[in-house]
Amino acid sequence: MSAETPVCQLLERQGTDYRGWLWVAPPRDAWLEHGEGRLLSADEAVLAAWRARGRPAHSPFEGVDPAPPGAVLFWPKSHALGEWWLLWLCAHLPPGTPLQLVGENQGGIKRVLKALAALGLGCRKLDSARRCGLYATRLDRVGIDPDEAWTTFEAAGIRLVSHPGVFGHGKLDDGTRLLLEQLPACLAQEPAAVGQVLDLGCGDGILAAWLARRGARVTAVDVGHFAVEATRRTLAANDLEGEVLASDVYTALGERRFDAIVSNPPFHQERAIDYGPAGRLILEAPDHLHPGGQLILVANAFLPYPDLLERAFGAFDILADDRRFRVYRAIKG
Ligand SMILES: C[S@@+](CC[C@H](N)C(=O)[O-])C[C@H]1O[C@@H](n2cnc3c(N)ncnc32)[C@H](O)[C@@H]1O
Repeated sequence: MSAETPVCQLLERQGTDYRGWLWVAPPRDAWLEHGEGRLLSADEAVLAAWRARGRPAHSPFEGVDPAPPGAVLFWPKSHALGEWWLLWLCAHLPPGTPLQLVGENQGGIKRVLKALAALGLGCRKLDSARRCGLYATRLDRVGIDPDEAWTTFEAAGIRLVSHPGVFGHGKLDDGTRLLLEQLPACLAQEPAAVGQVLDLGCGDGILAAWLARRGARVTAVDVGHFAVEATRRTLAANDLEGEVLASDVYTALGERRFDAIVSNPPFHQERAIDYGPAGRLILEAPDHLHPGGQLILVANAFLPYPDLLERAFGAFDILADDRRFRVYRAIKG
């Protein structure tokens, strides 16, 4: 099985014996998934793919093998999130554990030199090819608690807890704001009648918290474990209750149905046959709604969601359009 992604192709040509190593935040790649070692990832879709192959896979919120022979950190696009992973590895793995850091030049892998130097960790360049770089260091205790990366801010009267890598880190999205403006008119006025509502792609939990405050019995899901943790913390910070699950679109929900599904769905490059998570969210929504239940979502006005909504529901309304964003509502007959 050959490596598929440029970062894994760079790793594949190293002489390192990676048996038992921890792969931290990697992309989907068959070479890794058929190979050796354990996965540490905050992406539920990647975790599920490894578990489906019977491979050991954990999120950082579940703990990890305390002493792997080494770890490879795939540097994420968000530099702040890369720094968090670095602090987490320093705090959880034994000092002296070999760490390799790999990433694309475009994704800012060269910035790891500064990040490592700031923590007093040495750094050696191992290789570069396919527009990627590979660096090596050894972990050490650096005395900074990775939990310090959690931040809080206020928006729409809600105290939001966020983390690097979580959507909208530190501010309310304009699309979400437009969606929130439409929600009161869509939901029952009596809190007890709002019913069971699914927030799909919950991010920092802004919609889940708003809905719970309004009286909804909320289930919130996100593919990102940082988002799941952020939403749990947001609900707790506002003394609100709700169920929060890691889920790739509807996968963790089985056959469950709701009175409403509310979402600012993830933007995804449209491909010919696969519309990505947002396409699955819309096309499978009727299977997860009670009769009369509604899907309410906001999206960039240029996205081809009207076609998908028509295919899934037969008809839909546009509740708001500020030229950048549109809020759609479709009701299951
Ligand atoms: C545009 S953000 C909206 C976040 C939040 N609801 C808000 O309004 O600020 C979309 C969210 O969908 C999540 N997401 C992306 N792919 C997903 C998938 N396959 N299944 C579930 N959630 C997904 C992202 O992690 C992100 O938190």
